[in-house]
Amino acid sequence: PDSAHQAHFDAAIAADRRIEPRDWMPEGYRKTLVRQVSQHAHSEIIGMQPEGDWIASAPSLRRKAILLAKVQDEAGHGLYLYAAAETLGVDRADLTQRLVDGRQKYSSIFNYPSLTFADVGVIGWLVDGAAICNQVPLCRSSFGPYARAMVRICKEESFHQRQGYELLMRMMEGTEGQRAMVQDAVDRWWWPSLMMFGPPDDESPNTARSMAWGIKRNTNDELRQKFVDMTVPQADKLGVTLPDPELVWNDERGHYDFGDPDWNEFKQVVSGAGPCNAERIARRRAAHEKGAWVREAAAAHARKHNTEEAA
Ligand code: 3HC
Repeated sequence: PDSAHQAHFDAAIAADRRIEPRDWMPEGYRKTLVRQVSQHAHSEIIGMQPEGDWIASAPSLRRKAILLAKVQDEAGHGLYLYAAAETLGVDRADLTQRLVDGRQKYSSIFNYPSLTFADVGVIGWLVDGAAICNQVPLCRSSFGPYARAMVRICKEESFHQRQGYELLMRMMEGTEGQRAMVQDAVDRWWWPSLMMFGPPDDESPNTARSMAWGIKRNTNDELRQKFVDMTVPQADKLGVTLPDPELVWNDERGHYDFGDPDWNEFKQVVSGAGPCNAERIARRRAAHEKGAWVREAAAAHARKHNTEEAA
């Protein structure tokens, strides 16, 4: 009976044991995992656009090669995560349809434009830095396939963050104009990076249950604080200022105090009214439609191959 299954599941969660796809799980656990894992996968795929725009205009072959590798990594992260989501009984074609129909979300951060090449460095430094803060605890998520996908993704994410920071270091050693480009990009990406961690804990409908089920290991505010504490010294070393007049070290707390992101802007962007939402979805829809023939050909080949095998 379900009560015995529930008791077994609860004991596994309490003992910090992994839940695997074939284990019994409460429908709510499965549903919130499908929600989080598929939206995480969508974020990786949409995240290819702002940086992908700069591959053809990278200032050197070295920068082009690094950026190409990073964008390809993001595609791979998306595929690991769609594979993890499919172990929960959903189909990636259906998930993609929900994304392009606006029935599923992706990270708000990718709805901002990448205006100069300094944005490529700031995205690596801040956006991948925030993603690392958010994804390292997810390596201990209670759902096996998700946690194992995170381990692989985190290894590649640290390369992403370091290449971004190195790019900015080079530019900060450059001309006055290059230094101004870096500062301008930091000013535009700082607050949206803080919003990546989600709404404040007291406005987060999913956090309590996700923590109780061991899906999430920290709350949104905890990880946001961790990211600020980690990033301020890096900004000082880089020689840029962060656009928050309330940012100050608080000795008592042992953390930086910082200002409030604009949560109305966050709600706007999450609900589809950000600077680039329409463009990001239109390009994803177009790529999906343009790629239909490849999927059909692969499926036809597989059918032919299987009938040959069966014969
Ligand atoms: N962008 C878009 N939607 C967001 C959001 C954001 N930054 N933050 C929260 N939301 C949504 C949530 O999805 C939820 O809506 P839903 O119920 O329809 O899914 C709602 O706002 C309320 O938020 P909650 O805090 O209650 O939701 P969660 O408990 O799911 O917390 C989260 C949000 C912290 C983003 C969590 O889902 C999470 O950790 N997800 C996995 C990590 C992830 O998605 N990271 C994206 C970073 S991009 C990336 O990794 C690419 C990098 O390689 C560059």
